[in-house]
Amino acid sequence: MDANATTPLLPEVFEAMCPYWMEHFGNASSIHMHGQRARTAVDRARETLAEFFNCHDAEVVFNSGGTEGDNTALFGLLHPGDHCITTSIEHSAILEAARRLAQHGIETTFVAPQPSGLIDPADILRAIRPQTRLISVMLANNETGVLQPIEEIGKIAADTGIFFHIDAVQGAGKVKLDVRRYGCHLLSISAHKMHGPKGTGAMFVRRGTPVESLLVGGSHERRRRAGTENVAGIVGLAKAAELAMHSLGDGTIDRLAALRDRLETEILRIPGTGLNGADAHGEPVARAANTTNIWFDHLEGEALVIALDLKGVAVSGGSACHSGATEPSHVLMAMGLDKNRARASLRFSLLKTATDADVDHVLRVLPEAVEHLRALSPVAAGTLG
Ligand SMILES: Cc1ncc(COP(=O)(O)O)c(C=O)c1O
Repeated sequence: MDANATTPLLPEVFEAMCPYWMEHFGNASSIHMHGQRARTAVDRARETLAEFFNCHDAEVVFNSGGTEGDNTALFGLLHPGDHCITTSIEHSAILEAARRLAQHGIETTFVAPQPSGLIDPADILRAIRPQTRLISVMLANNETGVLQPIEEIGKIAADTGIFFHIDAVQGAGKVKLDVRRYGCHLLSISAHKMHGPKGTGAMFVRRGTPVESLLVGGSHERRRRAGTENVAGIVGLAKAAELAMHSLGDGTIDRLAALRDRLETEILRIPGTGLNGADAHGEPVARAANTTNIWFDHLEGEALVIALDLKGVAVSGGSACHSGATEPSHVLMAMGLDKNRARASLRFSLLKTATDADVDHVLRVLPEAVEHLRALSPVAAGTLG
């Protein structure tokens, strides 16, 4: 139930990668046979990623994952005096990059979401200044799964001549990607969120986008990302992308959404719970098919995460450890939740291999764990602020 943290390799991905560790170990820059075999594998992977993004092969850049893609978009495009627009619910790979840029004379506006978790494109439009050079907005939020109106934001970027980056790390494999439809210049994905290997990712870089490489050295990736290609990782990412494209067409994602909906509906029957990512009428907004985020009043989220772990259920809570202190989720706080409710929220994010039996197990152990913790909780007794 924690697929948004990471996913296991699918067997087909593992098998596709295997020959590239020992047998076909060549450096893709070498001109001899070993190098050419590696080069062919990288070229084929690039074709698959181009199909995955709906772009040209030459617009695909392989890298180390989502953090690198996000950092590249900001550090590679912005110069002192520029202004950047992003949102307050982005991943720390964007937020921390923006904070670093502030020390170099680059200001960022962090647009807040509506209580539903949706960014209003009108707020993006309002934040534009003459110096605005980049807009960066995520496709799917990692905590709530909420899908952002990126096509509308892409139109705003196009109309105003501003570069547009999409962090699609949590959307890839869950919705069909289409960089042409989105109107973006840059888009980042990570293999390990879609059943590929950790430490591997890719970026769409629209032809002519003047993004500078973070890493300099050799002329790899058309000088857009130096460093010997991680051939096995790239092959694994391509296999994962190929399988993801199948899953989007063969009903797997619809099945996943139905499983998630059943889980969510049943959990919400527990008194003192509610959905994070719902509109004013309590209806869920558009979300990635695998994710639901639910608050539980009168208990401590961390205690529930641990209680569930002891029952074999892995979930993430609404707080994270920063510099030794437990802070409530910046995403849920930006959506207007109070600290206690943000802390006592759980994210359930299903693997695409999740089964009815997995959901049944959660529904068996969760109500009991909630009841037990509420009986013990100082929050319930009103003795904890
Ligand atoms: C939305 C989002 N962006 C970026 C990242 C970072 O990706 P990576 O783990 O590949 O560095 C994550 C990972 O949790 C994420 O959820």
